[in-house]
Amino acid sequence: MPTLAEKKSTRPSRPAPELIFGDLWEFDPAPETADPKLKPRYDLFIGGEFVAPKSGKYFTSINPADELKLADIALAGRDDVDAAYAAAQRAFDTTWGRMPGRERAKYIFRIARLLQDRAREFAVAETLDGGKPIKESRDFDVPMAAAHFFYHAGWADKLDYVAPGRRVAPLGVVGQVIPWNFPLLMLAWKIAPALAMGNTVVLKPAETTNITCLKLAEILQDAGLPPGTVNFVTGAGETGAAVMGHSTAAKVAFTGSTEVGKIIMRSLAGTEKKMTMELGGKAANIVFDDAPLDQAVEGIVNGIFFNQGHVCCAGSRLLVHEPVADRVLAKLKNRIRVLRVGDPMDKNTDIGAINSKEQLGKIAALVDSGVKEGAEMFQPACKLPAKGYYFRPTIFSGVSMSHRIAREEIFGPVLSILTFRTVDEAIEKANNTAYGLSAGVWTDKGSRILKMSVELKAGVVWANTYNKFDPTSPFGGYKESGFGREGGRQGLLDYCKLA
Ligand code: NAI
Ligand code: MG
Repeated sequence: MPTLAEKKSTRPSRPAPELIFGDLWEFDPAPETADPKLKPRYDLFIGGEFVAPKSGKYFTSINPADELKLADIALAGRDDVDAAYAAAQRAFDTTWGRMPGRERAKYIFRIARLLQDRAREFAVAETLDGGKPIKESRDFDVPMAAAHFFYHAGWADKLDYVAPGRRVAPLGVVGQVIPWNFPLLMLAWKIAPALAMGNTVVLKPAETTNITCLKLAEILQDAGLPPGTVNFVTGAGETGAAVMGHSTAAKVAFTGSTEVGKIIMRSLAGTEKKMTMELGGKAANIVFDDAPLDQAVEGIVNGIFFNQGHVCCAGSRLLVHEPVADRVLAKLKNRIRVLRVGDPMDKNTDIGAINSKEQLGKIAALVDSGVKEGAEMFQPACKLPAKGYYFRPTIFSGVSMSHRIAREEIFGPVLSILTFRTVDEAIEKANNTAYGLSAGVWTDKGSRILKMSVELKAGVVWANTYNKFDPTSPFGGYKESGFGREGGRQGLLDYCKLA
C-alpha cells in the first residue's frame, strides 16, 4: 500500500522491492534538440569540392528510427572514382605528399578541433543517420573520432620514432571502404593515420550512413586541407569494388563483413597493393566464478547491447563458469528488463534502432534459428516503437557450440550463453571459432588473466572490462577477423614504406 505522502505525490510511487527489477518506470521524453544542419542533398567530395556525380544519379538516405527520408546522396560510378583517384594522386605529388610532417600536423590538429567545436551537431547527425542512441554518439563516437585525429596529429612530426632505426615514407594514394556501425569513428580510424604518414585518400562510407562523412568534408574544407588530399565517394558495393580495385591505389584498407573482405582479397591477389582487413567477430566474454559478478554483468551488457550489438568486437558469446551460471543468468535477465529500447534521439535510450531493414531481417532469422535449434530464449516485454527498425535485447541460454547462434556473427543485440567447467575448456571453446577479433576475461586472479591473454587467439583481450578503446592501442584480428592493426604505432606502420 502506498503511504499518504506517496499518494499525494504526483511522481510515481516507489515500487515494492520485488518489483524494482520487474517494471520499467516511464521517464518523460528527453529528446536531444541540437540542429544537425543537414542538407537536402549531398554530392561527392572530390578535389576539395562538392561535385555532382557524372551519372546524375542519387539514392535516398533514411533514418532507421522512423523510416523517414533524411537526404539524397550522390551515387558514384566508375568515372567518379577515377576522378577521385586522379585528385588524390595530384595532391600526393604536389602538396600533401611533399609537405613536412610538422606542417601536416597543423592541419590534422585543426580537423580535430573543428570536430570538437561541432561535436553536438555531429552526434545528432550520426544518430539520425545510423540509429545509435544519442548518448553513445555524443559520449563515444564523436569524442573518440576527435581523439584519433589529435593522437595522429601528434605523430605527424615524430615519424622517425614509428620504426626506430628505419626511415618511413608514405605509400601514395590509399583506398578505403568502411561499414555503417561506427560511421564517423571508422572514418577517423582510416584517414587519421593515412594523413599523418603523408598519404592521400579515396574513401567510401557505407551506403546507409553517409552523412557524417560528408559533414566531415565541410570540416576538411574549413581546415584548408589541400584539395584532393581526402576524397569521399558514396554508393554501395559496386562503388566499393571500384575503390578497392583501382589501379592507382598503393594500399587498400577495408572494414566490413568477412564475406566481402574475401571477395576483395581474391580480386587483389597477385597485385602489388598492400592490404589491411578488419572483418567480423564472434567474441567470447568469459566469466569465472571468482569474478565480481555485478561488474561482470554490466560488462556483459555493455559488450553485447552497446550500439545494438552492431559491433565487430561485440561480446556475443558469454562463456560462464558452471558454479555461477544460474546466478549470472538471473542477474542478466533482471538487468535487461530495465534497458530502454526506442527513440535513439532520447537521452535515456539504451538500445536504439537497428541500422537497416536488411540487418533487422538477418538478426530475426538468426534468432529464429536459435529457437528452432533448441536454445532457450529470453526477451524483456518492452514496447517497441510502431515505425522504424527495432529488436528487443535477447538472451539465449542452453546454447551449444554447434548452434548457428554460437558460430555466426549476428551483429545485433543477441547474447548466446554457454557454460564451462575448467580453464582449459573455456580456452578451447573461446578459440573454437573462425574469428579472432576480441575477448573478455572476468576473474579476480591476475595470473589467470595473464594466462588467458596468451592463450586466447584474439587481437584484443579485455580484462574485467569490455569495449574499451583508445587511439594509442592497436586494434585488429586473428584468423578470419582480418589482418593489420588500427591505432597506435602498429597502425601507422600499416600506412608506410620502410627504408
Ligand atoms: P558489407 O561488408 O557488405 O559492407 C561493408 C562495406 O563494404 C560497405 O561500405 C559496402 O558498401 C562495402 N561493399 C559491399 N560490397 C563490396 C564489394 N564487393 N567491394 C567493396 N566494397 C563492398 O556488410 P553489410 O552487408 O552491410 O553487413 C553484413 C554483415 O557483415 C553484418 O550483418 C555483419 O555481420 C557484418 N559486418 C561486420 C562489420 C565489421 O565491422 N566487422 C561491419 C559491417 C558488417
Ligand atoms: Mg551489404
